[in-house]
Amino acid sequence: AGLATSAAAFHFPTPSIAQGAPLRVGFMLPYSGTFAKLGKFIDDGFRLYVEQQGGSLGGRRIEFVQVDDESKPETATDNMNRLVGREKVDLVVGTVHSGVAMAMVKVARDTNTPLIIPNAGANEATGPMCAPHIFRTSFSNWQVCQPMGKVMFDAGHRNVVTISWRYAAGDQMTDAFKEGFTKAGGKVVDHLALPFPEVEFQALITRIATLKPDAVFAFFAGGGAVKFVKDYAAAGLNKSIPLYGAGFLTDGTIPAQGADANGVKTTLHYADDLDNPVNKAFLSAFKAKTGEDGDIYAVQGYDAAALLAEGLKATKGDWSARAQALAAMRAAKIDSPRGPMSFNRAGNPVQDVYLREVRNGRNELVSIAGKAVDDPARGCRV
Ligand code: PHB
Repeated sequence: AGLATSAAAFHFPTPSIAQGAPLRVGFMLPYSGTFAKLGKFIDDGFRLYVEQQGGSLGGRRIEFVQVDDESKPETATDNMNRLVGREKVDLVVGTVHSGVAMAMVKVARDTNTPLIIPNAGANEATGPMCAPHIFRTSFSNWQVCQPMGKVMFDAGHRNVVTISWRYAAGDQMTDAFKEGFTKAGGKVVDHLALPFPEVEFQALITRIATLKPDAVFAFFAGGGAVKFVKDYAAAGLNKSIPLYGAGFLTDGTIPAQGADANGVKTTLHYADDLDNPVNKAFLSAFKAKTGEDGDIYAVQGYDAAALLAEGLKATKGDWSARAQALAAMRAAKIDSPRGPMSFNRAGNPVQDVYLREVRNGRNELVSIAGKAVDDPARGCRV
């Protein structure tokens, strides 16, 4: 796990708290492994927002420390303790993997360190483990998958197989889908799983061909999602058994999946062609900065910076007035590329969940699968 420090690219003097030391933001993200692109896009998205503000938020200069968490839960506590202890960061932004995020949430609670989760969906983070200094600018695993149950039932599917990695995100996303699908009247006939981050899908794909369900619901992401969608098509199953999933199955992955992704339908809190001016401006700025097409991960990083900006604006850059900053963040209404985003009492976004279909090399909006979907925050006592 490597560490690097860098000040934001540009900064201009501002009247408010220009006298103070820069606010130290610790990025704890996967910069290697199957989720490497996801981590990089979150980092790029966050920095883009800060650069657009001239390098300061609420008049406070921002500097960054990075740690590569490698999506490894077993080293997560040490990595987080290093940022909070030796690196003395003012807040942590991370991460992608739900298991790593759970360890981060525990340290954040024990050390009272503010944490913004820019991806990981672990339901507990904004459920039983919720706290006033813990936020998420992404989703809960429940939130993006439960609405797919009704969508697939309404499409005429009755018997569905679910497939995923066997870890918190895979378990919680397929459970949430099952909850929605069963409630609508459908049946999950089998759940197939393999250890994270393995990509030997062949035996499971053969099993799907044998079971012949009406459709499949999958959660994979990053490099694993690229390979699953390609293997599914190579087996010819995309012609006979429609593939659905959480939107991560096709987000940021289509350049590598190519035509094999065509027709895959997913639910997510974003679609590439959302017709709002914030999304259009974001996508063109992200392209100008990185040369790449933005995706949900870049949006979630961008919005993490937008959320921090709300806190720093409320205190004119003074992070020692933390209670006031955190309260302003909880009350924030952010005009995100995804559409309007506010926060529930547990710090999880309240947001629309879209049904998308891969067409023309992108995730195109089909319909709204859930309007202003709010995670129930089961077990949260704040
Ligand atoms: C998670 O582990 O929570 C996770 C990882 C990758 C995604 C989405 C969720 O794309």
